[in-house]
Amino acid sequence: MLPVVSRASGVFVFDTEGREYLDGCSGAINVNLGHGLPDITQRMHEQLDRVNFVYRTQFRSQPLLELTERLVDLAPGDLNHVEFTNSGSEGIEMALRLVTLLHARKHNPLKCVVLTEEPSYHGMTAGALGASGHPLRRKDLQSLLANQATVTRVRPKNGALRASVEDWQEAVDRIGPARLGAVIIEPVGGAASGAAPCDPEVLRFLRHAADERRFVLVADEVMTGMGRTGRWFGCDHAGITPDVMVLGKGISAGYAAISAVLISDRIVRALDRPVSSLVFGHTMAGAPLAAAAALAVTEYLVTHDLAARAAVAGEHLAGLLKRLCQRHPLVKDVRGTGLQRGLGLHGDPERFPGISLDLTEAARAKGLLVYPAGCTPVTESVLIAPPLRSTDAELDELARRLDGALSCLSPTPVS
Ligand SMILES: Cc1ncc(COP(=O)(O)O)c(C=O)c1O
Repeated sequence: MLPVVSRASGVFVFDTEGREYLDGCSGAINVNLGHGLPDITQRMHEQLDRVNFVYRTQFRSQPLLELTERLVDLAPGDLNHVEFTNSGSEGIEMALRLVTLLHARKHNPLKCVVLTEEPSYHGMTAGALGASGHPLRRKDLQSLLANQATVTRVRPKNGALRASVEDWQEAVDRIGPARLGAVIIEPVGGAASGAAPCDPEVLRFLRHAADERRFVLVADEVMTGMGRTGRWFGCDHAGITPDVMVLGKGISAGYAAISAVLISDRIVRALDRPVSSLVFGHTMAGAPLAAAAALAVTEYLVTHDLAARAAVAGEHLAGLLKRLCQRHPLVKDVRGTGLQRGLGLHGDPERFPGISLDLTEAARAKGLLVYPAGCTPVTESVLIAPPLRSTDAELDELARRLDGALSCLSPTPVS
C-alpha cells in the first residue's frame, strides 16, 4: 500500500509515519524546483488573493501575458505564438489538432499521417495515446484510439534504443510528402525508453526533411523542456527549432496544472485565421493561478540559470550512476542527458515489467523515490531525475540509497 504524504520540502518528502523519502525522480519528473519553494508559493498566494480564475475568451491576465513573453524569449527561433492547456497530453492533443487543421485548410487533407517513434510516450488522452510508441499503455484500448489508421511508428533496428537517421529516412520516404503530415519526437526519451537520447543528427535530419517535404515537426518537450536536460530545451542540443513545441511538467514544476504549445511564425502565417480561434482549449487552460505559478517558476529557473546547473549536476550524477553500473551486474547501462537520466536494467524478458518495479519498491524501502520506465524488456529501466536545485551532497545521498536498493536485488555487488 502507498504511504500517505504528510509534507514535503526541497528534495525530501515525508509520510504520516514520519518516514523520509529523497525525491530522486522529482515526482513524475516535474517537480524541477523541489518542494515547497516560498518564492513560488508566495506568488501563488498573492495571485489567489487577486483573482484565481477568468475565462480565456473573456479576459487576458497579467501573469499569462508575462508568461507568454517569457516562454517566447526562452524558446529558440520563431516559436512566437503560445497556446495554453492543462497537461502534457492535452498539449500533444492540441498539436495534433493544429496539424490536422493546417493541412485541411491548405487543401491537403491527405497529409494526415503522423509519424512517431516506438519507444515514445506522448500522453494518455486518445489522440496522444494513439500517437504514443508505448505498446503497454495502448494495450486493450485500440477501439478508443481513432487515429490508429493514420499513425505510423518508426522502430529502432538492431537492438538500438532510438531510431537512427537511416530508420527515419526510410519511414519518411516510404510515407512520402503527399501523405506525411507531421513527425512527433522526444529529444530525450522519458517513461518509454528510460531517458534514451535522440541522436542530434536525427533531429537535424527531421528539420531538413520537414522543410523539404512540408510536414510539421513537433517536439514533445513535456519532460525535456525548461532546463531538465542541461539546455533550456532538448532541441537545443541539436541546434534546431521545431515548428511546434509542447511544454508541460517543468513549466510549473508541480505547483499547478498548466502546459503550453509554442507555434512557429511559419505555421501561424499558413493558417488563415487566428490560431486561438482554431485549436480551442479547455475551461481551466491558462487560468490566472496556474499562469502565476508557471511565471514564478520560469522566472526562478532563469534567474538561477538552472539549465546550466542541470548540465553540471547531470555530469556529477552520471558519474555516480556509472559507478553503480560497474558495481551491480543488474544494471545494463546509464542513459540520458543533464538531470534526465535512466538506469537500464537486465530484467527477465518473461516477466516484464518486473525488475524496474522491484527496484522502485526496494528504493522506496531505502527512502528513495525513482520512476519505473521502459515499454519493452530492452528498454526496461528506472528514471533518475532529481530536482534541478539538488546539491552535490544530495546527489551523493541519492546514489548511496540507490546502491543500497540495488544491493537488495543483486546481493553480490562488485566492491
Ligand atoms: C514526453 C511526454 N509527453 C507527454 C506526457 C504527458 O503529460 P501529462 O502526464 O502531463 O499528460 C508525458 C508525461 O509523462 C511525457 O513524459
